[in-house]
Amino acid sequence: MMNVGVLGATGAVGQRFVQVLADHPWFSLTALTASERSAGKQYRDVVRWRLDTPLPEQVADIKVRPTDIRSLKDVDLVFSALPADVAGGIETECAVAGLGVCSNASAHRMEQDIPLVVPETNPDHLGLIDLQHDKGWDGFIVTNPNCSTIMLVLALTPLRSFACSDIRVATMQAVSGAGFEGVPAMAIYDNIIPYIGGEEHKMETETLKIMGSLQNRSISPAPFIVSASCHRVPVIDGHTMAVWADIKATVEEVKEAYRKFVPPISGLPTQPEASVLLLDGDDRPQPRLDRNRGRGMTVSVGRVREGLRFVAMGHNTIRGAAGASVLNAELLLNRRYL
Ligand SMILES: NC(=O)c1ccc[n+]([C@@H]2O[C@H](COP(=O)([O-])OP(=O)(O)OC[C@H]3O[C@@H](n4cnc5c(N)ncnc54)[C@H](OP(=O)(O)O)[C@@H]3O)[C@@H](O)[C@H]2O)c1
Repeated sequence: MMNVGVLGATGAVGQRFVQVLADHPWFSLTALTASERSAGKQYRDVVRWRLDTPLPEQVADIKVRPTDIRSLKDVDLVFSALPADVAGGIETECAVAGLGVCSNASAHRMEQDIPLVVPETNPDHLGLIDLQHDKGWDGFIVTNPNCSTIMLVLALTPLRSFACSDIRVATMQAVSGAGFEGVPAMAIYDNIIPYIGGEEHKMETETLKIMGSLQNRSISPAPFIVSASCHRVPVIDGHTMAVWADIKATVEEVKEAYRKFVPPISGLPTQPEASVLLLDGDDRPQPRLDRNRGRGMTVSVGRVREGLRFVAMGHNTIRGAAGASVLNAELLLNRRYL
């Protein structure tokens, strides 16, 4: 078992990490960090546990540490669920000091030598880690995408063999994507907010990096355009999106590509039976009914029709955050980067 830590363990994504890692067969969760407000206290006393499974007993009594490199001497790998403005510095310090860092935060995602990885889509991009070692880091940083980007990327991955020039996407994103203190109930109840700061830019740029190709130790972005419009809706968990893709294929060819999709990974504990699942019902996918498929790791796709148009949906704090990061770590261990 490898000793691992979670940075920002008390937040919305941090709690998901604790949930996903509590009984993990390869990782032993021994370190939890948070802000100075929480450091020095027992996890059970500072976390406002809001998940629908009990707080894991083996984690409850761990003393929360300050988020600083001196607190992390006894772990080999950290998962970062810190706000982006805090994450940048400490993640670099960890990588320089020899730790593996799997980060949810956006701070490093678009840097040229940092892999932005979805295991089913671009596992080969882990090759960028060599560039980090070349600049003298003993460890490394690997990032996973923004929570709406990953749903779009997974829905597009089985369709990669078809020519495509233009993708438009309109999202309907859950409130948990903004963190616990993010959207006041009075602002979102009976409402839709047609703006999520920075989200459209992330979808439009991260998608091209992930679906790009690794050539001569750098990423050539995917040769299509993504145009996004992002909206917050009164759903607790599960980001839904309507996608229009200028893809040269018939509806039946697209459905067949979804049914036959085999991801280029296997044997990873957090990998779901189906990474992308085509649903037949006219009224699916729906967040309340479909977000927990594959223990929250499956992206459901439906309503494939001429145009080409379809709807995709996945669990934003599991597949869109903690689960994605843990799957990346499993891939890293499986490919001997750890
Ligand atoms: N929510 C999602 O669906 C989602 C999806 C993908 C990516 N992300 C990204 O994941 C990260 C975490 O998001 P979240 O929604 O979990 O946020 P959150 O609920 O606000 O939690 C933030 C965590 O960071 C800690 N923290 C805050 N300021 C700190 C500081 N100055 N020093 C050390 N620790 C500090 C907090 O500790 P205290 O409790 O002590 O304040 C808490 O543990 C963000 O970068 C976000 O963009 C979120």
